[in-house]
Amino acid sequence: MDIVTLGNEILRQKADPIEEINDEIVQLANDMIVRLDPKEGIGLAGPQIGVMKRIFIVHIEGDEPRVFINPSIINTSEDEIIYEEGCLSIPGVWADVKRPSVIQVQAWNEKGKPFRVEAKGIMARVIQHEYDHLEGVLFVDRLPEVKRSRLLAKYEKLKRA
Ligand code: NI
Repeated sequence: MDIVTLGNEILRQKADPIEEINDEIVQLANDMIVRLDPKEGIGLAGPQIGVMKRIFIVHIEGDEPRVFINPSIINTSEDEIIYEEGCLSIPGVWADVKRPSVIQVQAWNEKGKPFRVEAKGIMARVIQHEYDHLEGVLFVDRLPEVKRSRLLAKYEKLKRA
């Protein structure tokens, strides 16, 4: 399971809703959980492994892996917070990104059970980042122009090295 990196158009496409949470989806979720090494990253979305389905995994150290299928962010706080973000699809670079500090998400888990959570802190952050992947949006898109070009230049340089 290779991670798709920046430059691949797949990362810019909108993922499709999952029609049915069947064995294939359960297998996909398990594969993603195995693929996501929490030392390497804390979230992984379908498009990042070339699967254009609305699914992502969150695995924060000290917590269990969590599966979000067909997620929707139903509420975001007005209060925003800055966190440093990185992405397995843009390895080697990180930047401060401002996003709502508290969110409410509704999704289905790998057992086909709907759930709703209010997330804050790092959990709120990773959910918003992964949700963006399902929409074809990357964290660099959320940076001011100058900061973005600088970061991308750095990334290109790292890639050539
Ligand atoms: Ni990412």
